[in-house]
Amino acid sequence: CGIVGYIGKQEAAAILVDGLEKLEYRGYDSAGVAIYDNNKLDVRKYKGRLSILEEHLKNVPIKGSLGIGHTRWATHGEPNDVNSHPHVNGSGDIAVVHNGIIENYMKLKEWLIEEGKEFKSETDTEVIAHLVDYYYEGDIVKAVQEAVKRMEGAYAIGVISRKHPDRLVAVRKDSPLVVGIGKGENFIASDIPAILKYTKEVYFLNDGEMAIIDENNIEILDELGRKVEREIFEVTWDVEAAEKGGYPHFMLKEIYEQPKALKDTLSPRINENNEIILDDIKLTKEDLEKINKVVIVACGTAYHAGLVGRYAIEKFARIPVEVDVASEFRYRDPFVDDKTLFIAVSQSGETADTLAALREAKEKGARIMAVTNVVGSRISREADDVFYTWAGPEIAVASTKAYTTQLMAMYLIALNMGIKKGTVTKEKYDEVLTELKALPEKVETLLENIENIQKLADQQFHNENVFYIGRGIDDHVGREGSLKLKEISYIHSEAIAAGELKHGTIALIEEGTLVVALATHDYLYDKMLSNMKEVKARGAYVIGVAQEGNQEIEKSADAVIYIPNTMDELSPILSVIPLQLFAYYIAVARGADVDKPKNLAKSVTVE
Ligand code: G6P
Repeated sequence: CGIVGYIGKQEAAAILVDGLEKLEYRGYDSAGVAIYDNNKLDVRKYKGRLSILEEHLKNVPIKGSLGIGHTRWATHGEPNDVNSHPHVNGSGDIAVVHNGIIENYMKLKEWLIEEGKEFKSETDTEVIAHLVDYYYEGDIVKAVQEAVKRMEGAYAIGVISRKHPDRLVAVRKDSPLVVGIGKGENFIASDIPAILKYTKEVYFLNDGEMAIIDENNIEILDELGRKVEREIFEVTWDVEAAEKGGYPHFMLKEIYEQPKALKDTLSPRINENNEIILDDIKLTKEDLEKINKVVIVACGTAYHAGLVGRYAIEKFARIPVEVDVASEFRYRDPFVDDKTLFIAVSQSGETADTLAALREAKEKGARIMAVTNVVGSRISREADDVFYTWAGPEIAVASTKAYTTQLMAMYLIALNMGIKKGTVTKEKYDEVLTELKALPEKVETLLENIENIQKLADQQFHNENVFYIGRGIDDHVGREGSLKLKEISYIHSEAIAAGELKHGTIALIEEGTLVVALATHDYLYDKMLSNMKEVKARGAYVIGVAQEGNQEIEKSADAVIYIPNTMDELSPILSVIPLQLFAYYIAVARGADVDKPKNLAKSVTVE
């Protein structure tokens, strides 16, 4: 989501809408503003693109010059007018916009309801408005300070109050927020592009800090309420660069967002007793006992996540799983009945083939689960159970953070099924969960050490044929790596199970052919080393991918990319990262249009 705020002498509405337009890349399923006008807070918010809000504001304008605005990417509650931001307390005196996830919102909500507060929406954000109201005793700053003490999770918030029309209050923790410094006016925004038209001078807030803003003054306080001196940051980028957060492409930005996306998808779903809570999945133990088969259907990158999903569900839940590409599934009269659990994986939730397959399975009586990144998308609406990946909007056509969060989703779904069915021991369950929690940081470490990958990409970008080999789930990751490379660099690339090489593909290996070999699994390690030697003997240039400590691989490879140690079962979340970066840097070296590859679309709504 994206937030903006304005305090000054101009009409806030136009400035807020203008800012929101620049933040649409952060979400676009609904938009709204709250503006102080005529001694009240006027709130307008609508499902759909920003243009709908704009239209409404044109028809019935608001004059005031204090306001907050929001463009939403739904997490809690489907996109509709009521769930859109800003949210207000019962009297409508306090309005809040929020970006992030309040992890303990359910608990807070129950408590506030006991305290007599009435809720209108399903969002976690509405809790903040009531919480501030609860603590309000005449001082809005104090009330916000008390409220944030109760909030767990990630947030950047903007708050205004009818009783304090000279004030805009903002706080951030783990979600971005900048304060724009104007003359006789000031701003807040999730990101610089929203305010760049008005000022090039900003303050960045650190975690836990609050900004108390009026027309002429900005005061920054730390978590303990002590005043903080902050240096002014002069923005030198243009709007387009700023939208990409300073990254040259959305794809690279999204690759770097993966630690956060993984954490957002995982941590709100684990409670203090280490239980996995999947709010939108209603499958009970009894339901699960009836199910004798799982069918996973998806397209493109989501299909590759499905392949790992098969492994995870078979391993932890001990149910046989089939995986199919959606465009094939329907045409083979598949074995699906009321004992089948059908899982559709789709970033957009709108892919026509996947939707058609879902409908087919539904007709045959299957229980339908969706794994999707878009709340309220068609696939999510037609499913019985939904797992939302909380990767945030993905703009680059080549999927990165959506894929890794889909993997996270598959692991959580599989583990959850396994513990319900009793097919995974508590010990194993705890071990896997502990490692899942450690993964975002390990991805971060990987992303901090990429010189090796850049160097390899610079050496290898001229290849016209690349092969990816692996065994087990390494093979599935190889397929994703290969797809990334071909879709953005236009290099012909093929992924194949390493054991299958000798049945055909090895005929294509000649002097200098590039082979990327994934060998991240202990129990398949020796077999992989032999496959690598096989291609090396035919002249291939082999880049190995292995877990740290497996130096042995250096004898069978020309170059090695190491990933941090992890459980074999979970290695895809780490091993795909260097492959994404490798594809990215090769595409850049070839001068390709990375974010918008030719002939491809982000969401394919035709069959
Ligand atoms: C398109 C995109 C791919 C994506 C696939 C499935 O081909 O370019 O990146 O993996 O569609 O999309 P979905 O939204 O269903 O995950």
